[in-house]
Amino acid sequence: MQNHSSGPSSVQGNSTLNPEQERFSSSGFILTAIGSAVGLGNMWKFPYITGKYGGAAFFLLFILCLLVVGLPVLLAELTIGRGGRGNASTSFTRLSKSGPWGKLGFLSIICAFLILSFYSVVAGWTIHYAVISFSNVLFQDTDYTHRFTSFAAGGMPVLWQVVVMFLTGVVVARGVSGGIEKFNKVLIPGMLILLVILMVRALTLPGAMAGVQFFLKPDFSKLTTDSVLVALGHAFFSMSLGMGTMITYGSYVERRQSLGQAASAVGFGDLLYALVAGLIIFPTSFAFGIEPSQGAGLVFMALPAAFSAMPLGNLFGGLFFTLLTVAAMTSTVGLLEVPVAYVMDKWGWSRKKATLWTTVLCCLVGIPSALSIGGVLGDYTIAGKSIFDFMDFVASNILLPLGGLIVTLFTGYVWKKAGDEANLSHPVFRVWIFVVRYIAPVLVVLIFLYSSGLIHVE
Ligand code: PFF
Repeated sequence: MQNHSSGPSSVQGNSTLNPEQERFSSSGFILTAIGSAVGLGNMWKFPYITGKYGGAAFFLLFILCLLVVGLPVLLAELTIGRGGRGNASTSFTRLSKSGPWGKLGFLSIICAFLILSFYSVVAGWTIHYAVISFSNVLFQDTDYTHRFTSFAAGGMPVLWQVVVMFLTGVVVARGVSGGIEKFNKVLIPGMLILLVILMVRALTLPGAMAGVQFFLKPDFSKLTTDSVLVALGHAFFSMSLGMGTMITYGSYVERRQSLGQAASAVGFGDLLYALVAGLIIFPTSFAFGIEPSQGAGLVFMALPAAFSAMPLGNLFGGLFFTLLTVAAMTSTVGLLEVPVAYVMDKWGWSRKKATLWTTVLCCLVGIPSALSIGGVLGDYTIAGKSIFDFMDFVASNILLPLGGLIVTLFTGYVWKKAGDEANLSHPVFRVWIFVVRYIAPVLVVLIFLYSSGLIHVE
């Protein structure tokens, strides 16, 4: 990704870099970054952790975390990407003019790759569920827990994961504006339409209001220290921070684009989609007497029972799982772009070749995860965890906070001209740099200590 449009703080053009000039349009960039942020995190994970860690009070805490750490770190990542005009590793090297920072940045590329390897497994489940819901097969046997566990234990998840990776690869191979941007420009508004249809359906179910109250009426006595740390960690994951995506996307942004405005739009978009997802899942759960805190199985094991009991349930169920699939795939595209951009820069490969090999490798790495949820590798554990959980643990709980820490320390202490590139008004700049220097690193270290199990709170 060569730079011809250098600002005061950016890296000058370099003829050894990839000659392909790739750039987002302004609206395309914002929709694409929202697409990366809005994903299974919003529609699958957010509802069940909100159910578990304090309902409405947790939601407010999550908003606070998005504002206090999410937005400043997002802005830092976009700024590094645009300033360095490179992938998540070379951007650091170019801006610091030293190798070690590039190596640290490389950690986030590994993180994106590992997350993609199991995130695509869950995305595969959602496609399978969309298909069997539309075709009514899902509702033929009412033991939904058994249906899910027997599906997850078989070989089918591998097939669906390969489908997800193939489709993701097709989009990424078509390039930044011809593939990634176009895909998101159609699907992000499409997703909003689906969300609104499903929200209207959920809110008009008898008994739905109890779910709305649970989600939106805070009871702060329900909050624990766990809630705070989970909310912080989720703000990171939900905004796609710490894994190089926003750095890589930032490298394709025009110099005239305001990064502050873009970051705010992405934060707002992420929140809006989480809010609407909550307004679908909680009213539906309460209307059908489903416990919203029951964990990861909520959408696959509990919600089908709700869909089966409503008129046109197969249609609404199908739309719901389609929504999940779309949300997941706008995110898998962002995850795949991180290693693809790296491989293109590193070895000078064409986008198509880099995408092909990265996709194949990621499928291979993902297969053990796909087979480890009760499947043939179900009894195999690493450090007491299934392969799927182990991959999730290493990527989400260790590499992701480390990636975030590297970004904040680099922006706060190493790259002296970050302010020129971010181009904020003076008061906003001062708040930003204060947070990036003194607040975000402390909070990120706390996320790390908590999520890696090094500190334990009751
Ligand atoms: N933000 C996504 C979600 O909430 O599901 C997860 C994610 C997608 C993280 C893409 C990172 C990324 F590059």
